[in-house]
Amino acid sequence: MRPRSLVVVANRLPVDDSQPDGACEWRRSPGGLVGALHPLLRREPATWVGWAGGTGPAPTLPDVDGVRMVGVPLSEEDVRDHYEGFANATLWPLYHDAVEQPVHHRRWWEAYRRVNQRFADVVAETADPDAVVWVQDYHLQLVPALLRERRPDVRIGFFLHVPFPPPELFMQLPRRSELLAGMLGADLVGFQRAQAAHNFAQLATRLLDLTASDEQIQVGDRTVRVGAFPVSIDMAEMATLADRPDVLTRARRWRGDLGDPRHVVLSVDRMDYIKGIEQRLKAYSELLADGRLKVHDTALVQVAVPSRERVAQYQVLRDRVEREVGRINGEFGRVGEPAVHYLTQPFDRAGLAALYRVADVLAVTPLRDGMNLVAKEYVAARVDDGGALLLSEFAGAAAEFTDAFQVNPHDLDGLKRTLLAALQASPTELRRRMRSMRDHLREHDIRAWARSYLTALDETGGLADRLTSS
Ligand code: ADP
Ligand code: G6P
Repeated sequence: MRPRSLVVVANRLPVDDSQPDGACEWRRSPGGLVGALHPLLRREPATWVGWAGGTGPAPTLPDVDGVRMVGVPLSEEDVRDHYEGFANATLWPLYHDAVEQPVHHRRWWEAYRRVNQRFADVVAETADPDAVVWVQDYHLQLVPALLRERRPDVRIGFFLHVPFPPPELFMQLPRRSELLAGMLGADLVGFQRAQAAHNFAQLATRLLDLTASDEQIQVGDRTVRVGAFPVSIDMAEMATLADRPDVLTRARRWRGDLGDPRHVVLSVDRMDYIKGIEQRLKAYSELLADGRLKVHDTALVQVAVPSRERVAQYQVLRDRVEREVGRINGEFGRVGEPAVHYLTQPFDRAGLAALYRVADVLAVTPLRDGMNLVAKEYVAARVDDGGALLLSEFAGAAAEFTDAFQVNPHDLDGLKRTLLAALQASPTELRRRMRSMRDHLREHDIRAWARSYLTALDETGGLADRLTSS
């Protein structure tokens, strides 16, 4: 059999075409999806179909590292109603336990359908015969079924990077059956956690009256496979970076710039209400007020890069976070010693690695998160087996990192107690925990993820071998 070619379909194209010489390079972050797929695609001549970020006709883009970049054009209205509306003000909050109220508008649904159809059309015209088409994430849930109508020859995978909610929440969606049927156009539907696969199977039975288990769903004469495939990172890449002399020098310099405190606590998030930034700031400020932490001893570095800035809930969040950081600094900071070092800038990979090496504790405390790759990057970066990971039980990563200091971020007293426990743990205990998390990550890195998903999708196994061979 001829080897199958690969088409990745995601809302965003992972490129930056704003280079002065018209060249194009990878734009990896911030955001977990591109970070996860980037290390794989550098090895395989693939096609990536997505939105280049602007409005109007799609730009013609050069290949990047052998990956063909195919743009899908979006109008101003599409961006407003599909990306900012249905994807990020209806589905995103609903899929994250409705920690913010999901908003419903009928015209957003129309835009979601229209844009999904356009993506499916571009893929239908782009994919080679018998290609493997790998559709990513909640923006494109209708694409599998729409694509199948036009291209029954291709093998279709769908992977959801975010949580898939329990039936009680999903049932709130006015167009719930259509969304499910859209995903069921795939041959394989993958989730981060087994619970999500279970929720999906239950809904298929309840809403579409299908015969379903947590492993497979019968749709007419097709069997759709379902499963959990927890996404990961390129551990070796981050570990190598974090051990580079210039990165270590930068880490030492930053510790000095922070005033050589006894402890450095770090958080790195997209500015998103799911990340629990406000809860964490509140816990920190209470510890300062109680006198259990002192600004002179402990530095908190909060990196929060702005995201989805035209969506109302994100604007409100940013205002609230910045007001709170100002209040904490006003109340507890000293001259030359702010209580919170607050940065909204993007960092390059080496900069992130240096931050991870400075941090005695990385605090990852989302209210709900599909996986959280920042937690995995930190573990990968700690080649010294040092540092402590404070991790919310509601992040997908918690199922894997059972040796993290796990917390319920809604429980402020628990959050304070566990942060102190992480700061006060003995080096031996920290080493034991970090080693065990590193052992797990080594076995479950991005190549293992791609291998298990693509082997399940492409029964010939050829594509998985090509993408994951070292
Ligand atoms: P999400 O997918 O919700 O954004 P993840 O933690 O899974 O959350 O992934 C975030 C990705 O974005 C990580 O790879 C992280 O390194 C990157 N990132 C987050 N903040 C920054 C930043 N300020 N600069 C550069 N990269 C960032
Ligand atoms: C999460 C989502 C991705 C998304 C990323 C960044 O990781 O799962 O699909 O690309 O956030 O968000 P943005 O809205 O900037 O694409």
